[in-house]
Amino acid sequence: MIYLDHNAATPIAPEVREEMLRVLEIYGNPSSLHEEGQKARSLLDESRAKVAAFIGAFPDEIIFTSGGTEANNIAVHSFAGSSAAVSAIEHSSVLKPFEYLAAKGVRVHHLPADSGGIVSAGNIPAGVSLVSVMLANNDTGVIQPVRKATEAAHAAGALFHTDAVQAAGKIRINVRELGADILTLSAHKMYAPKGIGALFVRRGLKASPLMQGGSQEKAVRPGTESTVLAAAFAKACETAEKRMEKDEAEIARLRDMLESLITAKVTDCRINGLGSPRVSGTSNITFSGLKGDSLIINLDLAGLCVSGGSACSSADFRPSHVLTAMGLSDGDARASVRFSLGRGTTEEEIVRAAETVADTVSSMRGKTW
Ligand SMILES: Cc1ncc(COP(=O)(O)O)c(C=O)c1O
Repeated sequence: MIYLDHNAATPIAPEVREEMLRVLEIYGNPSSLHEEGQKARSLLDESRAKVAAFIGAFPDEIIFTSGGTEANNIAVHSFAGSSAAVSAIEHSSVLKPFEYLAAKGVRVHHLPADSGGIVSAGNIPAGVSLVSVMLANNDTGVIQPVRKATEAAHAAGALFHTDAVQAAGKIRINVRELGADILTLSAHKMYAPKGIGALFVRRGLKASPLMQGGSQEKAVRPGTESTVLAAAFAKACETAEKRMEKDEAEIARLRDMLESLITAKVTDCRINGLGSPRVSGTSNITFSGLKGDSLIINLDLAGLCVSGGSACSSADFRPSHVLTAMGLSDGDARASVRFSLGRGTTEEEIVRAAETVADTVSSMRGKTW
């Protein structure tokens, strides 16, 4: 089996696994005042400091959440006010809370993307409280001009949120350099387990809770914290910090190889977002005339795990809203497949993956045409 779906989930890094086993013994509740509780508290504090350092933040600016979805929801619900602007290519965990608020009367403006998958955030309407533009797109890998978007948001008097889930560990992130007020992370895209993420909330801002309970995570995310997951997340950040440039250079080399092999072997295919700045491991390719869901199933049968993008599940294959926002027809968006490489991907796998794609596409076209 060849796994090219790292944007959906990454395997757990050996360093992270080892760290989780080490800290499993620390079982106390971080809110307990006794010794066992305080061991857990120290571990949680250290983990928070490491996650904060990874993005150039202060530890007290980090709120641990259950993942990217929860962090995005807290960001949108806390800061959207009565009028907000969001890019058309956001993940559903940003778009859906905005839709929910729009149904309740909040004015929501959508910022368009161009054919290269880049959001134009120059035109922020007056009176907007929050602008949300992601750092790297999950379907295309296109890196957004977030620094510019932050400036435009601040010039309009709005706060700026960026969903950095698909950028973290792939490009260096510094919240001060970006000028972001609020930023989302998720551990399971960074070789740590599912179930933990973080919301950076700049000092001076106060997020509001989605749930009521204890005072954990500044009462924004009540409930006993998972010290094991926090330690895993922190280790993933430390590991990424050390190896990011080297890993990403190799992953980019393999991604370019995959794209040139596929485009050389398969006619009528197009790389989405090519020419725009992209994170290293993502390649989104339209295979004209095919149905992406059937292609993904056939590739899976041939031993290659890929995906149609985040909006898709086996029961629900909708065209990616990211691709339609870039101007692709519904048909072309449905004919698109996302390949996402990671640390463990090898050159031999890339060669086999390209052959599998070429054979599968040609046999499907042979059948349908
Ligand atoms: C860009 C982006 N934001 C948010 C999420 C949601 O993160 P989580 O799965 O941790 O809830 C994802 C997951 O695919 C994503 O790709």
